Amino acid sequence: MRIGIGNDHTAVAMKNEISDYLRELGHEVVDYGTDSSESCNYAVYGEKVARAVAAKDVDLGVLICGTGVGISLAANKVKGIRAAVCSESCTARLVRQHNNANILAFGARIIGVETAKEMVRAWLDAEFEGGRHRDRVDMIMAIEERG
Ligand code: RB5
Repeated sequence: MRIGIGNDHTAVAMKNEISDYLRELGHEVVDYGTDSSESCNYAVYGEKVARAVAAKDVDLGVLICGTGVGISLAANKVKGIRAAVCSESCTARLVRQHNNANILAFGARIIGVETAKEMVRAWLDAEFEGGRHRDRVDMIMAIEERG
């Protein structure tokens, strides 16, 4: 798969480790930055990756900031995006199976890199289950349509 990745200044090292891991798993990684540890605004990178996912320039996205919250909030403002913040692999699997999350977000200040790898793997290995979950996801997306 082609996976977009983005982060703020708190998460450069983790972004690089996760990018390497994604490549080891056979995925293509598109890096939307930042590569700088200078303080920056997570919304910039959340939006870049979200727009790439929404435009289908990439299949899925990974976003990392200090907590994963700010960058996912920004991403979720883009139409068609379902960015989920996770801190362990069971939730990471379920957000794909039940919520069809097209962006996985996490916090470089919250979890270690091994947990992040486990989550990324669990999320990528899972598949959306559809059925009743599709109806529920459709209801979420209908809220977006109503503005
Ligand atoms: C940056 O200090 C921090 O606020 C940011 O990385 C993130 O945790 C916001 O949600």
